Amino acid sequence: MRRMAAVAAVAAVTLGAAVTLGLAACGGGGGSPTSTSKSGGGGGEVEVFTWWAAGSEKLGLDALVGVFNKQHPDIKFVNGAVAGGAGSAAKDLLQSRLQANDPPDTFQAHAGKELTDYIDAGQIEDVSALYDKFGIRDVFPADLLKLLTVDGKIYSVPSNIHRSNMVWANPSVLTAAGLDPKATYDSIEAWFPALDKVKAKGKTPLSVATTWTQVNLLETVLMSDLGADGYIGLWDGSTDWKGAEVTKALGDFKKLMSYTNKDRDGLDWPEATQQVIDGKAAFNVMGDWAVAAFEEQKKVAGKDFIYFPVPGTDGTFGFLADSFTLPVGAPHPDGAKAWLQTVSSLEGQTAFNKAKGSIPARTDAKPSDFSEYQQTAIKSFGQDTIVPSLAHGAATPTSVLNAIADATSKFTTGASDLKTYQSELAAAVAP
Ligand code: GAL
Repeated sequence: MRRMAAVAAVAAVTLGAAVTLGLAACGGGGGSPTSTSKSGGGGGEVEVFTWWAAGSEKLGLDALVGVFNKQHPDIKFVNGAVAGGAGSAAKDLLQSRLQANDPPDTFQAHAGKELTDYIDAGQIEDVSALYDKFGIRDVFPADLLKLLTVDGKIYSVPSNIHRSNMVWANPSVLTAAGLDPKATYDSIEAWFPALDKVKAKGKTPLSVATTWTQVNLLETVLMSDLGADGYIGLWDGSTDWKGAEVTKALGDFKKLMSYTNKDRDGLDWPEATQQVIDGKAAFNVMGDWAVAAFEEQKKVAGKDFIYFPVPGTDGTFGFLADSFTLPVGAPHPDGAKAWLQTVSSLEGQTAFNKAKGSIPARTDAKPSDFSEYQQTAIKSFGQDTIVPSLAHGAATPTSVLNAIADATSKFTTGASDLKTYQSELAAAVAP
């Protein structure tokens, strides 16, 4: 049993084993792309808006486009990607376009509260009819579908599931610092002595990048120090943001930040992860899109890099999922529907996720099609406590995330002290 707690409406939800990814590991199954028609003839196009603009993320998108071109050869893919990890630039631009009635044909949105924003604003269409047309009502975990659904209407098609709370490390740097790459750390506190050893060798103990990656780090420290239930309570009101547990977690976050690279605010996640790949840094905390960066550079898991859940979060899966929408007023709705069909298809999900580092949202994907890391993620998703990612739209509306990011940036650039930071976080979540 695992709980996809708090991801939906921030309340614990018990999942049955039936939704466990990989259980139905026989491949094929209903709703395969062949059961849907090619998109009507007559040509057309689809502008697909994402932030998968470069590097390994673009390779993931390219893989999906490859399947799309095969399934819908008469529809032209128009790449509307806007650079900036986690949608740090894309989401604002998208909002301006939506408000100016200039939507793309489809855009990337995170399952959970971020998607609910678009639904509440009347910016995206109910796509339930496509679920019937494509035969995909039963191919996704029921609790994932709940995150895409309001009042019985489903508003997007999920492409993948990522895990936010992973550490990526360079074993050579660890060994040179006198650390055993196989060592495990039970808590953030237990990790500090290892970071000190790396520091003593003149390397960056922990690489990080601009604000959103610092928020990604913060969420994992909160998961670690508060435990899954305490972390979930931050989003349903049962954990006090002003309490001593949060103060302790913010203290640990502050200390972790003291081990990071000074150029962090000018970098995005690929550069921070690259510091580990290049042996300049020992550890990087990043969602598991990072594995795709190692793999793109032909790095071998266990030899060139290692990974483990953020200390103190073993058994907790920081959940986020990308999904694609049909915006109200999309200029090419047929193109968008064709894109959604490819996103939903087993072939599309397999090709995309192999390249992206995530795991397929479809439960009938074959685990053996995926890398060693991804197989561990599939297993963890099946057995861990699932908690919603803050930095990636699952836990809070975008306005709350933005306020948390602003407070975090102030704190990590030295413009506020811990007490102020904590009260700003509390105010952000419960204004
Ligand atoms: C997340 C997104 C992932 C990945 C990451 C880094 O928000 O869900 O697919 O792209 O940002 O940009």
